Amino acid sequence: MAQIIDGKAISAQIKDEVKEEVAKLKEQGCEIALAVIQVGSDPASSVYVRNKKRACEYVGIESVSYEVSEDTTQEELLELVEKCNKDPKIRGILVQLPLPKHMDEDEILLAIDPKKDVDGFHPVSVGNMVIGEDGFLSCTPAGIIQLLKRSNISIEGKECVVVGRSNIVGKPMAMLLLRENGTVTICHSRTKDLKEVCKRADILVVAIGKPKFIDDSYVKDGAVIIDVGIHRNENNKLCGDVDFEKVEPKASAITPVPGGVGPMTIAMLMQNCLESNKLFGEKN
Ligand code: GUN
Repeated sequence: MAQIIDGKAISAQIKDEVKEEVAKLKEQGCEIALAVIQVGSDPASSVYVRNKKRACEYVGIESVSYEVSEDTTQEELLELVEKCNKDPKIRGILVQLPLPKHMDEDEILLAIDPKKDVDGFHPVSVGNMVIGEDGFLSCTPAGIIQLLKRSNISIEGKECVVVGRSNIVGKPMAMLLLRENGTVTICHSRTKDLKEVCKRADILVVAIGKPKFIDDSYVKDGAVIIDVGIHRNENNKLCGDVDFEKVEPKASAITPVPGGVGPMTIAMLMQNCLESNKLFGEKN
């Protein structure tokens, strides 16, 4: 029987820690606000944005909501980002992705002041992460490191295989595992013999966006399995990139879907909002 890594409990623990720190800052007269920008009304994005605002409320961070229409122009959104950059009350800026097709996402992310880049997507944040300097860490991969650490799973010296090379998950995940002294391999759609590479993994992180793609034939006995995917199956039930029923008996530890990696992203966003104060905060 594998250890089931409880992302819901660990994220609740982190949010409670953040809440306590935020309360202390408030006593010192320091308020933290997060700007949450959503362009258009994509239903999945609306759910994420609502959950982020709820988490802010829970930990005591003010969320300043900007819900702008689908036909907002690139220039208008750049102006809004600039307004948030200049507002001393706002310590974090989150532009929910994906943006509508007519927009240049990279240009928008680049416009966010790196001091307020709580998503950790700005090239300055990515660069700092790669060279091991202080800065914001991308929330989902940082959350996965916390899941491992708080489940007493050591990374040092382990064979870590990351399946998927997105800028949001795969690439930063590989870097953070490397920072923890793992031996890291990144796999992607052109990887030859994916199964053989996955079977080497002591820690296998799967972020490929294909429901139940990884079954027991990809997994070494006793491996730790982290499933970043989230999908609805034919019965409208949530499932991940990993076939949980097949893989769980072979793993030593595994994240469920839902309740594994998912809740960690928002917890780490709250942590980053708090960090914004420590990293770059002048009193407001
Ligand atoms: N869309 C999907 N995941 C994320 C995320 O972590 N941050 C933002 N801004 N958009 C997303």
